[in-house]
Amino acid sequence: MHLRSPAAFTAAFISIVALLLPGATVNGHNITTILAKFPEFSTFNHYLTITHLADDINNRETITVCAVDNAGMSDLLSKHLSVYAMKNVLALHVLLDYFGAKKLHQITNGTALAATMFQATGTASGSSGFVNITDLKGGKVGFGSEDSGKTDATFVKSLQEIPYNISVIQISSMLPSAEAEAPTPEPASVNITSLMSAHGCKNFAEALLGSDAMNTYAGNLDGGLSVFCPLDDAFKGFMPKFKNLTVSGKQSLLEYHGVPVYQSMSMLKSSNGLMNTLATDGASKYDFTVQNDGQDVTIKTGIVTAKIVGTLIDQQPLIIFTVDKVLLPKELFKGAVSPAPAPAPGADAPAADSPKASKKKHKSPPAPASSDSPADSPGGAVADQEADGNNAVEIKGFRFAVVGLIFFFVCLMM
Ligand SMILES: *[C@@H]1O[C@H](CO)[C@@H](O)[C@H](O)[C@H]1NC(C)=O
Ligand SMILES: *[C@@H]1O[C@H](CO)[C@@H](O)[C@H](O)[C@H]1NC(C)=O
Ligand SMILES: *[C@@H]1O[C@H](CO)[C@@H](O)[C@H](O)[C@H]1NC(C)=O
Ligand SMILES: *[C@@H]1O[C@H](CO)[C@@H](O)[C@H](O)[C@H]1NC(C)=O
Ligand SMILES: *[C@@H]1O[C@H](CO)[C@@H](O)[C@H](O)[C@H]1NC(C)=O
Ligand SMILES: *[C@@H]1O[C@H](CO)[C@@H](O)[C@H](O)[C@H]1NC(C)=O
Repeated sequence: MHLRSPAAFTAAFISIVALLLPGATVNGHNITTILAKFPEFSTFNHYLTITHLADDINNRETITVCAVDNAGMSDLLSKHLSVYAMKNVLALHVLLDYFGAKKLHQITNGTALAATMFQATGTASGSSGFVNITDLKGGKVGFGSEDSGKTDATFVKSLQEIPYNISVIQISSMLPSAEAEAPTPEPASVNITSLMSAHGCKNFAEALLGSDAMNTYAGNLDGGLSVFCPLDDAFKGFMPKFKNLTVSGKQSLLEYHGVPVYQSMSMLKSSNGLMNTLATDGASKYDFTVQNDGQDVTIKTGIVTAKIVGTLIDQQPLIIFTVDKVLLPKELFKGAVSPAPAPAPGADAPAADSPKASKKKHKSPPAPASSDSPADSPGGAVADQEADGNNAVEIKGFRFAVVGLIFFFVCLMM
């Protein structure tokens, strides 16, 4: 070995940098990068990104993406669908099983029904979230949405196969589905408080209706809004302390439960870190940390750690989660009896995707109050549909371990 070889040093340095850079995903695949190699699929790829389906695809294993080229996308584009409907349509083209070219041509009994990501969202009713794959005469493979009941498209070619993680294939045209294309209510016309009331968050909804915070929520409905809504048991236990806050303190507390940007469950899982809230206002930070805990996603305020227990609505640009605790900001509850322990070094990610600032301001400083965290409450809400694999924290830990090893060997060599 040439101990002080600059080449060896450079190689080690490059591996270190490569390991620290984001890009490789949990399952090693990145649909955006795969499709970027085929310019004729740029439109399909673009819409996977803006609908955030790309994140969902990257977080899954054993998946097949049926892509359509730019020419095939023009029919769909001429329908001028909302982003939300577009997401449903594209989700119908993501099969929750691995179909490489070989498997497609050798389907048992010549026909199969494949569940899709559209079906997995729970938006699809009955069998409309399934795609019928049929081996046709002459070695062709046909695709049809169960909705349409006929063969709508055929297999063209395989674009990339990473058995059995992801297969990206081209099909001749988009699969029509009245259900996936159905218009959905604009977020601005969704009554978020009645939605919350109907799904176990009546107390929080009523507090919102009685506060100027409601205007802040309403003002962010169109631009992107993620809400972390405490379930009734948690909010009831907190009520005495809530009543004790000043009007402005109440407003800040309520605004602390909203983030002025759309963050799906898989986005939260893959971009742990600091997040600003609707209460963030220059001098007052009012931020919290999102962190994975096994399959769960938790929110750490520094006073409490709340867990996301359900999803009330996920219609980009609006998403409402339920959480098992009231989020207590440090700014209002500093004198808490049981401060949360400091996060483990290295476990904390830098703010990956945190919004720059909220879109509203309210002047009067919130009054301080002293209290501890509210009691736990079991989550009784709609179960989270996403059962994704590993989490980003583990990957980061793994990367640091590998970097440590490389560094160790470089030191030995020198
Ligand atoms: C996938 O690749 C795109 C661009 O190639 C990048 O912007 C994106 O962050 C990557 N996704 C992940 C989860 O690394
Ligand atoms: C497939 O995914 C697993 C993790 O689920 C990963 O360990 C493996 O490297 C991936 N295979 C390829 C070829 O990327
Ligand atoms: C194939 O057809 C046979 C006989 O009709 C049936 O018993 C079997 O379950 C089918 N297999 C699949 C995978 O549908
Ligand atoms: C798929 O569609 C074909 C033709 O419409 C039909 O004969 C077949 O039974 C369907 N397959 C399944 C699994 O429903
Ligand atoms: C939403 O519904 C509540 C009753 O749950 C009502 O008081 C409120 O005015 C409604 N908001 C809008 C914007 O319609
Ligand atoms: C309300 O505030 C007062 C004065 O700050 C404090 O003594 C009291 O413990 C508070 N009550 C609750 C329930 O937090």
